[in-house]
Amino acid sequence: MIIKGVKLQNIRSYIDESIEFPEGSTLLAGEIGSGKSSILLAIEFALFGITRGVVSGASLLRTGKKQGSVELHFRIQNKDVVIKRFLKRQEEDVRQDSGYIIVDGLKKEATPVELKSMVLELLGYPPQLLTKSKSLIYRYTVYTPQEEMKQILLEKSEYRVDTLRKVFQIDKYRRIRENTQIVLRAIKQQQNLVEGIVQDLKEKQEQLKQIKDGLKQAEQSLEQSEIKLKKAQTELRNKQEQIKKNERQIKELNQLKSNLEVEETKLRNKVSLIQRDGKEINQLEKETNDLLEKSEEIKVVETAKDEKRIQTELEKAQQEHEEVLKKQAELEKDIKQQEFIIKQEKKVVDDISSLKKCPVCRQDVTEEHVEHIKKSQENKIKAAEKLIQKSQFDLEYVKEVLTKTKEDVQRLREQHKKLIELRIMAKEKQNLQNLMHEKQKRMKSLEEEIKKLKQEVGSINTAKVEIHKRVEGYKNLEEEYEKLKEELEGLFVKEKEIAVVVTKIKTELFSKQENLKAVEEEVHKKLEAKKRLQKLKQIQNWLQELFINLMTVIEHHVMMRVYNEFNEILQQFFEVLVETEVMTIRIDEEFSPVIEQNGYEVDYEYLSGGEKTSIALAYRLALNKVINDLIENIKTKDLIILDEPTDGFSTQQLDKIRDVLDALNTKQTIIVSHESKIESFVENVIRVNKHEHTSTVT
Ligand SMILES: Nc1ncnc2c1ncn2[C@@H]1O[C@H](COP(=O)(O)OP(=O)(O)OP(=O)(O)O)[C@@H](O)[C@H]1O
Ligand SMILES: [Mg+2]
Repeated sequence: MIIKGVKLQNIRSYIDESIEFPEGSTLLAGEIGSGKSSILLAIEFALFGITRGVVSGASLLRTGKKQGSVELHFRIQNKDVVIKRFLKRQEEDVRQDSGYIIVDGLKKEATPVELKSMVLELLGYPPQLLTKSKSLIYRYTVYTPQEEMKQILLEKSEYRVDTLRKVFQIDKYRRIRENTQIVLRAIKQQQNLVEGIVQDLKEKQEQLKQIKDGLKQAEQSLEQSEIKLKKAQTELRNKQEQIKKNERQIKELNQLKSNLEVEETKLRNKVSLIQRDGKEINQLEKETNDLLEKSEEIKVVETAKDEKRIQTELEKAQQEHEEVLKKQAELEKDIKQQEFIIKQEKKVVDDISSLKKCPVCRQDVTEEHVEHIKKSQENKIKAAEKLIQKSQFDLEYVKEVLTKTKEDVQRLREQHKKLIELRIMAKEKQNLQNLMHEKQKRMKSLEEEIKKLKQEVGSINTAKVEIHKRVEGYKNLEEEYEKLKEELEGLFVKEKEIAVVVTKIKTELFSKQENLKAVEEEVHKKLEAKKRLQKLKQIQNWLQELFINLMTVIEHHVMMRVYNEFNEILQQFFEVLVETEVMTIRIDEEFSPVIEQNGYEVDYEYLSGGEKTSIALAYRLALNKVINDLIENIKTKDLIILDEPTDGFSTQQLDKIRDVLDALNTKQTIIVSHESKIESFVENVIRVNKHEHTSTVT
């Protein structure tokens, strides 16, 4: 790290000032209180911010000002870095505000803590220093404030040793030991815990063995019971089969019985049919006999020709008779006609006798005319009377004929009637015979039917016998069925009992297996625990016997190295600064300087001011070199700032500073001194002046 420059605004005696630092050795020269140390404090503030109890905001911000800032420019690891921090007055307190950092032109706003973290990284300081109030590495290597130079030596030795242990990171070995003890305690606890687990391992193993034996027994008894169960199940199945067969047979038997009933019914029907037919035959026989009798009673005469002849005769007689009747009517009519005519003629005679005038021509009727007419009329009457006489004669004859024809017709009619009756009787006989034939035919068919029915009865009886035979074959079926059922019931009970036993054994087996699993797991865990216990014991042993001791040894070695190197370097610087013939120096194990003068150990307190300063400077420079040498990553090895390192030096001693600077051979050295003699030892001088409470730099 090389500081390029710093800008101060309202920092202590400064209002607004920029100071540039060249490489090589630079002296900050100025009167007492001119503002030299302020620049160095500002640089530390720019890097690490305010640190409680070390650099306060109030000590930095210029009195009467509300805010101030420091802007530091430096180069580190080929990077140009600018870092700016701000201070703000708030009521009675002064606080730091957020600032920024620019690395190779890349600007980053950041809080004070973030800035510190980034600076630690850039400087290669251990990041754990972030929370520490003092940046010890910086203070022991780069810059120790003026007043603190001697303070290091005056501090209590434990504190110094403790600080150095921290700086050299030796402290970690103690922490490792402490942590190891914590780990060991934890291991012990674990061990106790694990021992508790392992304690009853043997008993558990014995228990496991017993469980296994019990399990084996249970398995054997399960096997046996399962064989029994299988057997019982087979028996049960067989019985069920038998019952099924039996049931089938019973069904068949019932079918046979119902068939038998059907046959019986059929038989009864047939028998009743036979009886009915027999009765009908008897009836028919009787009827046939009756009919035979009746028909034999009827004598049959051949009448057909006679009937025809008589019929013809009858028709002829009737015709004749009718014609005679007609003749009689005609004659009677004729008589009546003639009688009417006579009556009419007689009336005409009467009328004419009394008639004087003609009604038509109104002329008087003459006697002659009356007589003439009377005569003609009497002639007409005589003719009529003659005709009547003749007709009456004829009528007498006709009447005689009529009697005869009437008798003929009567006789012929009776004859004809008789013949018809005969014909009807013949017909009736025929009918009777026909009926008889039909009855005989019916009888024959009934006989046929009876014959057939009897045949059927025969076959029904045969079937019945057959059925009976089969039914006989199924005798005792129901009894057998009941017996089988009873046996099945027994088998069911037996099977159930065995199944219950099997289930019980299985449940037991399951719980035994579960138990086995649990105990096995437990034993497994305990065995694991045993292994773990061994491992823990090994670790414990290793930590206790080896690791802690190793840490002590390493710590001792590291410490010895630091001690040796420190001692050597301290002596080197001491030799440069002090006459070794007069005084020698070494450090004890607590890094306290042991000074011998004239063969006697002398207390630091008793030394002169110049001697104290020399020893403090030598110690301070040795510290710088040892830390820089031993802590590899530190990036501030190129820079050392010394604030008034020569307090109380004689002029002669001041010359030694030149040798010291040569011995340091640092790239950049900043020395603060009011000793003008130093100016000739350095390459650059920066003058600090204060005028009217304000510092300026030239
Ligand atoms: N907060 C502040 N505001 C203003 N001035 C301050 C403040 N703090 C300190 N001063 C003054 O600033 C001046 C410079 O102090 P500084 O410590 O820088 O002096 P110096 O040059 O190092 O002196 P010396 O040679 O005695 O060490 C002193 O007069 C001091 O009293
Ligand atoms: Mg000072």
